[in-house]
This record gives sequence, structure tokens and C-alpha cells, in this order.
Amino acid sequence: MNQLKIGMNIMLIGFMGAGKSAVSREMSRLYGMKAVEMDAMIEEREGMTINEIFASRGEDYFRSCETALLEELAGQSGLVVSCGGGAALRPQNVALMKKKGLVALLTASPETIYSRVKDSHDRPILNGNMTPEYIAGLMEKRKAPYRQAADVEISTDGKTVEEICRELWNWLSAYRQ
Ligand code: S3P
Repeated sequence: MNQLKIGMNIMLIGFMGAGKSAVSREMSRLYGMKAVEMDAMIEEREGMTINEIFASRGEDYFRSCETALLEELAGQSGLVVSCGGGAALRPQNVALMKKKGLVALLTASPETIYSRVKDSHDRPILNGNMTPEYIAGLMEKRKAPYRQAADVEISTDGKTVEEICRELWNWLSAYRQ
């Protein structure tokens, strides 16, 4: 019972700062899955940071990179994918995530999110909008599409990364072999 059934992936979705990257790395360490960080892969392929991609090519171009990468990942297995915070907002992307993946939504309160992202400058969606109010408003707008995409929702407030991973792994018991 320590592997996912053949062909399956875990797709981590949720707002910026929800802990997707940290959980993906820890799932890899604890359970030997292969961690994939969508933003880092896109940056590497494009030879630019996310900020630079948004500035020089625009958000639509970045979103099309996400869709292309999800198409590719849907052909692989044993992955735990940290999806960019906007990736689950396109229904087409959600369909790709679900092709072989179980979608886990990580949540946190607006206060927790703000405290985690406030000193970062590498998220173009928040640059110039780094206030608790803006974050809370955008989280509210994204809540319904995130929930619609999710197979399971895990709150991360007050939990260690390892506790979150164990909770996720327990939920996955029906999908393990
Ligand atoms: C975005 C989230 C970011 C990154 C980009 C856009 C979003 O990823 O993909 O800046 O629209 O929520 P993280 O959620 O990993 O910060």
C-alpha cells in the first residue's frame, strides 16, 4: 500500500502560498513520488522567470504554457504535481488534470496566505496588489472553481507540511496498491 495505482498522478491545486510546492517536495521525500513544479518547468523551458514571461509575452501566453505542460504530464504517472495557482481556473486544464490525476485542493485562510506571500516579488498577479484585502477578494473569486475541480480539500492552517502529506496519503488509501 505504498504506491499509487498504476498510471495515477496527484495534482495539487490552490491559491498562491497554499503550500503546493512544499507538499509536493515532501510527498516525494515521504512516499517516493516524483515531484513536479509546473512554474519551475515553464521557467526553465522558456528561459525566463514567471515575471518576465508575463511582462514580455503576457498572461495568456503563460496560461497556454500551463495547458501545454498539463497535456504532457497527463501522459505520465507517479507524479505529484504542484500546479500554478491559476491552472485550475481553465476547465480545459482541469480535464487534463483529471485524465490520470486526483486533484487535491490545499486551502489556507487569507491571513495565512498573506503572511506566506507578502515578502515575495515573483508572483505577477500579486505584484502591486500585495494587500490582505486584495488577496482575500481574489481568493473568494477563485473559491468556486477550485472547489469544483477538487476531489479532496485539505486545510493547511496550523499544520506542518508532513501532517498535510499524511492526511493526503490517508485519503489516497483507496487509490493505493
Ligand atoms: C499564479 C500562481 C503562481 C504562478 C503565476 C500565476 C496564479 O503559482 O503560476 O504567478 O494565477 O495564481 P503559485 O501558485 O505556485 O505561486
